[in-house]
Amino acid sequence: MTLSTPHGGTLINRWNPDFDSSNLTATVELDEIASSDLDLIGTGAYSPICGFLTEKDYHAVVETMRLSTGEPWTIPITLPTTEENAQQISIGSLVKLVRDGEVYGVIEVSDIYKPDKEKEAQHVYQTTDLAHPGVKKLFERPAVYLGGPITLIKRRPLDEFSKYLYDPQETRKNFEALGWKTVVGFQTRNPVHRAHEYIQKSALEIVDGLFLNPLVGETKSDDIPADVRLESYEVLLENYYAKDHVFLGVFTAAMRYAGPREAVFHAMVRKNFGCTHFIVGRDHAGVGNYYGTYDAQKIFSNFTPEELGITLLFFEHSFYCNACQSMATPKTCPHDATEHVILSGTKVREMLRNGEHPPATFSRPEVIQVLIEGLKKELIHS
Ligand code: ADX
Repeated sequence: MTLSTPHGGTLINRWNPDFDSSNLTATVELDEIASSDLDLIGTGAYSPICGFLTEKDYHAVVETMRLSTGEPWTIPITLPTTEENAQQISIGSLVKLVRDGEVYGVIEVSDIYKPDKEKEAQHVYQTTDLAHPGVKKLFERPAVYLGGPITLIKRRPLDEFSKYLYDPQETRKNFEALGWKTVVGFQTRNPVHRAHEYIQKSALEIVDGLFLNPLVGETKSDDIPADVRLESYEVLLENYYAKDHVFLGVFTAAMRYAGPREAVFHAMVRKNFGCTHFIVGRDHAGVGNYYGTYDAQKIFSNFTPEELGITLLFFEHSFYCNACQSMATPKTCPHDATEHVILSGTKVREMLRNGEHPPATFSRPEVIQVLIEGLKKELIHS
């Protein structure tokens, strides 16, 4: 077997559906982020993390981009609760993790601590601006964090994505069954366009398989809904991809919009899913103008290749060039910017909402059709 070794050496498994939590009284209400994190910790996607961060690990991650044991880890995985609720909880106790009246897991509480959120925002997001969606979320969440190992008891009900839900153990088995020795992971939260396809296929030229792993967890409200994005991937794969070389599975984490820090996090998680390579293009996981175009590539120089354990494939800003009559990047195209087809995400969303078709040089017509139909349905339901 040649797929990547999980981060920290072993794939964590904290799932125990038979765990009896009926005699426990203390509870913490999970929000959307904590609920997805619990599931991902339990199934090993966040290996070597086996619970919500202790105070020591939290400080290490925020300040040094590593766990206290030294492994690279850049996003704090935290369990916030209110001060009132924290007062009901004692160190060493088992606490139920609840959502909509259902128990999804338990935490063995080792730490109860109050974070300095200004500091967390500045380190993780490089800004304390509440207009940043990740920072806004950070400040909206309750004020006290609980740390300690978890047991996952119940899986999240994600029926709409059931066809594409795979845990790290399953993706690894699938990659092996496909005979892939090298696999490149691709993170995305946006509708697929030609630049995505270009960098995915460029990467695929040097590895055996492509793991398309669109994020379907919580995103900001003006991002295109996950079910519509997924459908657009289905038509794209049907029409333009070699089936033996691509595997589609969803990534159920919440989007943090933490740019460079989130790129490292995304790479470590895809390593746990078995990827040997990971794509980082322009402004990965960025939002607005908070990060430089290639900051999410530069951040990886803080770690050695051995510590990362996954090969990064960096791509420059790619676009269709009318003069080249092909996709290109500043590395491969000599022509003036007026020849380049570049549309901002905001512009594309606006066109789609008006039923306008962006050019085929920007996005495949089949994909555009799915997006327009999907947005029509969304408007009817809203
Ligand atoms: S992200 O927030 O999930 O990173 P998006 O879905 O837009 O957003 O991007 C997915 C991946 O494709 C990221 O690695 C991003 O850097 C890369 N990417 C997106 N558009 C381009 C482009 N035009 N040129 C090069 N890379 C791109």
